[in-house]
Amino acid sequence: MRRLEGKGALITGAARGIGLAFAEAYMREGARVAIADIDIARAREAARQIGAVAIEMDVTRQDSIDAAVAEAAGALGQIDILINNAAIFTAAPIVEIARSDYDRVFAINVAGTLFTMQAVARHMIDRGIRGKIINMASQAGRRGEALVAVYCATKAAVISLTQSAGLNLIAHGINVNAIAPGVVDGEHWDGVDAFFAKYEGKAPGQKKREVGAAVPYGRMGTAADLTGMAVFLASPEADYIVAQTYNVDGGNWMS
Ligand SMILES: NC(=O)c1ccc[n+]([C@@H]2O[C@H](COP(=O)([O-])OP(=O)(O)OC[C@H]3O[C@@H](n4cnc5c(N)ncnc54)[C@H](O)[C@@H]3O)[C@@H](O)[C@H]2O)c1
Repeated sequence: MRRLEGKGALITGAARGIGLAFAEAYMREGARVAIADIDIARAREAARQIGAVAIEMDVTRQDSIDAAVAEAAGALGQIDILINNAAIFTAAPIVEIARSDYDRVFAINVAGTLFTMQAVARHMIDRGIRGKIINMASQAGRRGEALVAVYCATKAAVISLTQSAGLNLIAHGINVNAIAPGVVDGEHWDGVDAFFAKYEGKAPGQKKREVGAAVPYGRMGTAADLTGMAVFLASPEADYIVAQTYNVDGGNWMS
């Protein structure tokens, strides 16, 4: 018995990495999936390989959010599940943070999450869909880090938005929850590693080895480590779970 049979799922930032693993896992569970990404060439290639639909979407632009949600609703029939997964990372010491960088990261990670959630919630309410919304938080949202002030603050905001939206939207039968991964290997962490090479004078790959060795489980996570929670939170088994953020991080954070 497939757990998401017949469901329509919109996943932002799913052209690669964790979002793409979620798309594949959802398809295996019987969902129809729209991969929405600013990198439309890569989204198309990924969608072609797994049999999903590719949609061009920039979560920083309201017109793009509205168009992508309408396109996804048309292509999937309806949107039963949203994963707000698109995000970018940045790092700098406090005295070097550029306002333009702050604005861009908050626009994608926070405003993008809120206004995509809003557009999909309106669609779900209009159609009477008792849907599931999953936001991608991070262990970075659980506490600050010396060089990661802006990204950490965006992920703390995602946890807070998940709580508020979760409490508000459950009145419509829409569950909003979040996943907080720890350190997940992939292109995202190649970029993180490069920031630490720059600011901490580490050799390329050194930070990755260090954070992997520090995980209680004994290694960095993979995108596949997260798919079980993403399927569960989208399934009817999670109907009574509201406004929570789940750590899936090999034991890095306990809350
Ligand atoms: N990789 C990790 O260690 C880790 C840890 C904790 C949380 N997370 C979170 O998990 C999620 C996925 O991470 P990942 O490692 O797969 O990241 P990734 O960088 O590999 O993928 C992010 C995707 O988002 C897309 N994107 C960027 N800006 C966009 C925009 N304006 N509109 C639409 N799409 C846009 C990118 O094109 C890319 O395909 C993110 O929310 C990230 O913050 C990742």
